[in-house]
Amino acid sequence: MILVTGATGTIGTEVVRILAERGERVRAMTRNPQGARLPAELVQAVQADYGNRDSLDAAVAGADAVFLLNAPGPWIEQHDLAMLDAVRSHGVGRVVKLSAIGTGENTGLRVGAWHLPGERALHQGEAAWTVLRPSSFATNTLHWASLIRSGQPVPNPTGDGAQGVIDPRDVAEVAVAALTTPDHAGRTYTLTGPELLSLPDQVDVLRKVLGRPIEIVDVPLDVVKQQLIAAGRDPEFAEGAVHGQRFIAEGGNARLTGDVTAVLGRAARTYATWAGDHRDTFGV
Ligand SMILES: NC(=O)c1ccc[n+]([C@@H]2O[C@H](COP(=O)([O-])OP(=O)(O)OC[C@H]3O[C@@H](n4cnc5c(N)ncnc54)[C@H](OP(=O)(O)O)[C@@H]3O)[C@@H](O)[C@H]2O)c1
Repeated sequence: MILVTGATGTIGTEVVRILAERGERVRAMTRNPQGARLPAELVQAVQADYGNRDSLDAAVAGADAVFLLNAPGPWIEQHDLAMLDAVRSHGVGRVVKLSAIGTGENTGLRVGAWHLPGERALHQGEAAWTVLRPSSFATNTLHWASLIRSGQPVPNPTGDGAQGVIDPRDVAEVAVAALTTPDHAGRTYTLTGPELLSLPDQVDVLRKVLGRPIEIVDVPLDVVKQQLIAAGRDPEFAEGAVHGQRFIAEGGNARLTGDVTAVLGRAARTYATWAGDHRDTFGV
């Protein structure tokens, strides 16, 4: 039995789908099983919240492996540690944690600080572990869809800063490999797509795939910060977000690795492939 946390989100949905297609026994954790769209005949849904330790015990009981994913935010440390405590109590044999690129490096990025305690706790635990540190998800560009559909420009806070944009389906396939075989125990993988792409590069791909013009408008980082504060985010969060955007703009995340190929035995999917598979969402 494999427990998939974050089972209704970007990566977890794909992990559940692939495991179910392979005939694995899957338990999908969500706070709201009634609202979750899960393949019910193949997957057992379990209601649990990281903030409720008893619910984590119920979710973990009888599981052989756990896919550990947290929504981004400062709660990641507390949630990871709560789940790993439940893992220890129930003697779960294997944990695959979704972390983020750059974790453990001296970047000052907030997301790395959120994930590091969970990674360290995994190293100290009894369960076999694998850590996945993906780069920027292709799905992050879905938030441009309504702008593109209505002919508005895409905002660019990161200039020509490039990233190894990765298809979430590849992250999920690597997770499934690590969850279902012992081959990846004790490994930390930095997962990237096959090419470095700036935001204008991604827009260029979308122009070609959609066959329509898309404008880009540069947005200075101090404006991004003010927009976040105006939208109700606290100033510290806004400062952290802008720090991350500046890091990308300055080329800090311009990294490619061969880890997807090493695990899956094939090249990582391109952003163009992802965009082609999501044309409908962008209104074509
Ligand atoms: N986006 C990127 O480019 C990127 C890059 C590298 C790493 N990452 C990492 O990827 C992770 C996010 O993955 P994602 O995009 O797949 O997540 P997501 O789509 O935002 O989904 C979040 C999931 O977490 C669950 N969840 C939220 N709060 C919960 C709680 N209190 N208790 C139990 N479950 C809870 C939600 O389930 P319910 O609502 O159904 O309960 C949902 O399934 C973050 O850790 C982030 O640091 C992201």
